[in-house]
This record gives sequence, C-alpha cells and structure tokens, in this order.
Amino acid sequence: EKGGYDYFMLKEIAEQPKAVADTLLGRIDGSGSLTLDEVRIPPGVLREIDKVVIVACGTAFHAGMIAKYAIEHWTRLPCEVELASEFRYRDPILDAQTLVIAISQSGETMDTLMALRHAREQGSKVLAICNTNGSTIPRESDAVLYTHAGPEVAVASTKAFLTQLVACYLVALYLGQVRGTKWGDEIRAVIRDLSSIAGAVERVLGTMEPVRELARTLASKKTVLFLGRHVGYPVALEGALKLKELAYMHAEGFAAGELKHGPIALIEEDLPVVVVVPSPRGRSVLHDKIVSNIQEIRARGARTIVIAEEGDEAVVPYADHLVRIPATPTLLQPLVATVPLQVFACELATARGNEVDQPRNLAKSVTVE
Ligand code: M6R
Repeated sequence: EKGGYDYFMLKEIAEQPKAVADTLLGRIDGSGSLTLDEVRIPPGVLREIDKVVIVACGTAFHAGMIAKYAIEHWTRLPCEVELASEFRYRDPILDAQTLVIAISQSGETMDTLMALRHAREQGSKVLAICNTNGSTIPRESDAVLYTHAGPEVAVASTKAFLTQLVACYLVALYLGQVRGTKWGDEIRAVIRDLSSIAGAVERVLGTMEPVRELARTLASKKTVLFLGRHVGYPVALEGALKLKELAYMHAEGFAAGELKHGPIALIEEDLPVVVVVPSPRGRSVLHDKIVSNIQEIRARGARTIVIAEEGDEAVVPYADHLVRIPATPTLLQPLVATVPLQVFACELATARGNEVDQPRNLAKSVTVE
C-alpha cells in the first residue's frame, strides 16, 4: 500500500502534484472565475465581513500564515492568524462580521475544534478547510472547503499542507471575486497560474536527488537554521518543523529581517542555514535584502543552502548549495519552495535511522487539548 515507496511520507510527497490538481478540480470555471459551491456562506454575508481570523495548529498554522499574505493582498480585509491552542484563552475580539477559517487535515484536532466552537459562540461564521470528509471540524462549521489530498498516513504533513495552501488561495481569490477588488486583473492571472502549478510541483520533484545527497552529508549536525521573508517566512518555519519532528534535530525558522535583532549571533563556522529566496521579480526589494542576508551569514562561516527561482543569478556567488525552483507569482511560491524542505527532512531522518512515518512522541491527530 506504500506503492513501492519505503515510507508513506515519500509516497505522499510524490502525490503532491495530483493532490494539488485534485484540490483545484471543478473549482475554476471555463471563464477563469471561481465556483466554490461548497462555501455555503452567502456572497451577501461575505461582503459584510470586516475581518478574517485563521486558527490552526502545526503545519496547518503555517498554511494559515501564508493565507494571511494572500487574503490581505487580494481582499484588503485585515486577517489575523492564531495558534488554535492560544486563541480562546485570550478573549479574542469576534463578532458576526468576522469570518473565522479553521484549517485542519484530520478535522479532529481538539485545539482547533475548541477555537472554532468559541468563535461560533461569539456569532462568527466559521469556514473549515479540511482533508477528512465528515470529520468533526467541518461538521461543526458553517461551511467547508475540502482539500482533496486523499488520506495522509505519515505523521509529518506534506500533501495536506500543499492542498491547504491551494484551498487558502482559492478562498482568498474567491473573497476578492465576491467583494470586488482593484486586483481583478491580478486575480485572473493568478487563477491561470494556479491551474498550471501542479506541473511546477512535479518539476521540483524531478530535481530532488542533489537535495537528498546534501541531506545525507548533514546527518551528524546538531542544528539547522531556516530563513525566509514574506511568504518565505512561514515556509522557513515549516522546513524547521519538518526537521524537528522527523530528524529530531534542533531547527529554527526566522524571518530573515530579524537576523540582526538576535539570531545572527547563532551563526558559526559550517552551520547549515537554509534560505528561501523571494522572486527577484515582484517584490524585488525583499529579494535584494535577503541576498545581503545570505552574504552576511556566509561571511560569518555559515554553510548556505539557497532555494531560489530559476534564472535568479544574484544568489549564485553566495550559495554553497543551490536548489532551483520554478518561477511562480510571489504569493504562490510556497507551493514549490516547501517541497525541497520536505525531501530534505525526510532524507535526514532516514540517514539518522529514524522512523520516518511514525516519529517518536507524535500522533497523526491530536485529539486532546
Ligand atoms: O490534523 P491537523 O491539520 O489539524 O493537525 C495539525 C497539526 O497537529 C499537524 O499539522 C502537525 O503539526 C503535523 N505533524 C506536522 O507535520
């Protein structure tokens, strides 16, 4: 049932192009508009929303962090993302004009369930983004957008994450479409790009052998740091989480702009630092800033592992290891940038002799608070 793969995780990483395509299936019509029939919150209600709050845990929380960039950009609605386990304990400000989005692969995560119950008690509408048909979270929500990743068996979430991203983009674009925004042309262009993104994920998967080789050489390291900016920041956090849970290594993700506010003190000779580089097109200021960050850490001895778009030549002189990803619109980059980090963590775990599908101390769904 592992389909010839040694681990479910490897199988699920390989299934990502299909999972992404399946999650888009039937949701974009011939004219390039979104038809999210499942979202049974009437357009009239969605037009009255004045704030979006996302609640989730772990990897799903990272998808939520990325969704915030997309929702705020395309809809101009303020969006907060909160760890579900913290949410209700701080007496959050919620009302009928708040749209709460609960993201969960299993649909059974107790922290997320308690957060959405709290939101509904305050009169907010709750939209679930979920991978498991008929599970508790969608049953208790006002509406649900299912991710079509298929069953995810490995404890470390991979294909569920990519499909959560797709679902989040769809919701962001749909809110933009329903509410009308000045980004109409951009939205149409992004919908087009989304339709072909599964192919880009497939291409990344075809180039992972050097990442595996690199991971094997790092098996005896104690620490790996991850840096990113903008949507690359949650990707860095996700890369670090994967490495912690699978390789049992100390791994931390930082927003690259924070380096000089503390983390740069951690940089020492031969410390592996993975850097997710934003596109040089689009928000090019961020690109240039992160290139100087790479220079700074390399000058202090770090071993730089750079994930950068094809054609981005500016990073070449400072990359000890360069991982190429296809060019995508800025906001969609996490769909391709996360894949090498999943492969990296899986291979490191294997090299360290760890149980990939069932990491120690972890359960696939966390049904206690
Ligand atoms: O089922 P959920 O998406 O609600 O699960 C949330 C987290 O427990 C989950 O993403 C966890 O962080 C994964 N093991 C990460 O790989």
